[in-house]
Amino acid sequence: MGSRRRTIVALTVAALSSLLALTGTAAAQSENRELIDGLEYQLLYVALPLTLFVLVILVYAAVKFHDNDDPEPTTEDPALEITWTVATALILLFVGLSGYSVLVNPYVSPSQALDSDNRSQEGFESFDDLPETGDEEVYVTGYQWEWQASYPGANVTTENEIVIPADENVTLWLTSDDVIHSLFVSDLAVKQDAFPGRYTRARTTVSEPGRYDAVCTEFCGAGHSRMDADIVVVEPETYDRWLETNEGNVTAAPEPG
Ligand code: CUA
Repeated sequence: MGSRRRTIVALTVAALSSLLALTGTAAAQSENRELIDGLEYQLLYVALPLTLFVLVILVYAAVKFHDNDDPEPTTEDPALEITWTVATALILLFVGLSGYSVLVNPYVSPSQALDSDNRSQEGFESFDDLPETGDEEVYVTGYQWEWQASYPGANVTTENEIVIPADENVTLWLTSDDVIHSLFVSDLAVKQDAFPGRYTRARTTVSEPGRYDAVCTEFCGAGHSRMDADIVVVEPETYDRWLETNEGNVTAAPEPG
């Protein structure tokens, strides 16, 4: 029994300290990241005690009844049945509501930020037809196997670098020239598919200037694994100055910070 008890204590300590380690991670760099991390912690805080609870009961039952040669079958117990049904329903409701509240957030589902007439992603001929968003906008086109970004109003183009201002609402309008691609920026928790003939939208606010890795996450041919880009987040003044001085050019991103 002594060694068993020690194992249980050790497992509990390991679980709790890994939870503490997770809680201690750095602040989120984007609004999207904050939302999704927040949801994951919420679910973790519910799942962890439940997991421990089930494991403790399992171990307790296994230890206590392991040499019971004459087990009694469980008979009807309405109180117990109602309790576990209601408890399970409450937990599922909590999980559903937490998930839904993040899913409909206008950073995670940007179409929520448009009125219902403008939510369609089809029927547009070009980037110029797209509805007003009120955000700082960048037009991003994926093609085998590069990402090209253009900045409306400034006639500036970048290749495999997508420049955005910090602390501002940014919309990336995405499309593809050939097959389906997908832009994924892990550190910013931004992910959106790019389809030929359609315009999809990713939306974020990034608080921390810097370079963030973006990769293509839709298998798109021989060069798929090399189809990556940098999201370059710069101070708004740097962004405006950079757009002004590069009017009409295909150019490189400014250095962040
Ligand atoms: Cu583009 Cu994979």
